[in-house]
Amino acid sequence: MELVKWPFLKQTWGIEFERSEGAYLYTKDGRKILDAAGGAIVSNIGYGREEVAEAVANALKSNTYVLPPFLTPERETLLDELREYWLPPHLTRIHLSSGGSEANESAVKLAIQYQASRGKPEKNIILTRNLSYHGTTLNMSGISGHIARKRGLESYVPKPVSIETPYPLRCPIGSFHPDAKDYYLDDLRDTIKKIGANKIAALLMEPINGSSGGAISPPDGYWLEAQEILKENDILLIADEVMTGFGRVGSDFASNLYQLEPDILIAGKGMGGGYAAIGGTYSTDEIADSIEKAGYEVMFHTFAALPQSCAASCAVLKILREEKLCNRVEPLGNKIIERLTKKLGQHPHVAEIRGKGLLIGIEIVQNKSSLEPFPEEHKITGQVMQKGLEQGVFLYPGGTGEYRDIICIGPAFIIEDSEIDQIVEVAESSIKAVTEQY
Ligand SMILES: Cc1ncc(COP(=O)(O)O)c(C=O)c1O
Repeated sequence: MELVKWPFLKQTWGIEFERSEGAYLYTKDGRKILDAAGGAIVSNIGYGREEVAEAVANALKSNTYVLPPFLTPERETLLDELREYWLPPHLTRIHLSSGGSEANESAVKLAIQYQASRGKPEKNIILTRNLSYHGTTLNMSGISGHIARKRGLESYVPKPVSIETPYPLRCPIGSFHPDAKDYYLDDLRDTIKKIGANKIAALLMEPINGSSGGAISPPDGYWLEAQEILKENDILLIADEVMTGFGRVGSDFASNLYQLEPDILIAGKGMGGGYAAIGGTYSTDEIADSIEKAGYEVMFHTFAALPQSCAASCAVLKILREEKLCNRVEPLGNKIIERLTKKLGQHPHVAEIRGKGLLIGIEIVQNKSSLEPFPEEHKITGQVMQKGLEQGVFLYPGGTGEYRDIICIGPAFIIEDSEIDQIVEVAESSIKAVTEQY
């Protein structure tokens, strides 16, 4: 019998990486790959920083494991760092977990418990969006708008109750229609009316879609008005900033770009920059106090807030801050979009190049005027990724199966101008080579 070494299913990605440094991955067979996606859009300071490794080693020596609710120096310095420099001031309470899915689960639990604690247990529906990704647990698989990641689970996982994700390119009343904002706001209002505000606990949303949609921003003004509608209907706003948080979109959080004040905010990926498995669920005093008063538990995850994870996260956030790396994000992102647009803007199979900061998506289509995608079996993004790797650049395959053929670019904030050129050249030649076959 064939030994299936790694990963769980045989569809091996075929490369063994030996080490990583800066914005590069080094393969066992001696190749150097520019990581244009920071792993899974995780690495913001780049790989291999000594200071972070030292902080982790020190934490492991001084506090290997301490039950999450107890304070340790590593926890305390991370909490101070978060409160002093990063979190919106109204998000005073911090619950830590081991990643984005867990952090989202915690957020949903808090929202449901909060409503129950106010004597509203029937307010227990979490609205999500039809194109979205919130994680890989059963509940998150169910309520996310990501068809490919729930195949074979449909009979078991919860069915999503969703609104439409504002998607200017594919707005049903017309691509980039001037009334797109109102169309999507009407959809939110109508959905709330149909279900009943008294049954809805919260809207869980990504302010800018991550790789599921490939950096889709809503029409101007959408989020502020959507927030008002939610407030009027006594529905909480939960911002999933697992991909967008901690500088990725050119602001500490994407919520800041839209003047949003989410009741709960979730972070993961960039919070540890790949050096630690850590996620955070941040909420208001009001939510925490109400849950506490009702006598409900907020249970910890065994490996949440590990001292070494806190130390890693704190060191990463300090590097971001002290080296002012977030200031690089917007200009670097603009350069990438400009250069991609120059090379690929007129390409017959490129429908849109979009993004904010260093979260960028390229949407490939079979037919540019009808926006019809290539058949799913063509696995366009997988092919583009392979072509990119052959030329020394890792490009991230996005999409949900239903919405597909989206290439994501999200490098570390340390990349240089010549590396931007390399990313753009390889993205161009890979997309051309793959689409020319059809
Ligand atoms: C927006 C968003 N939410 C949640 C998750 C899940 O996070 P994790 O894979 O750390 O569980 C992801 C992961 O890609 C994500 O992009």
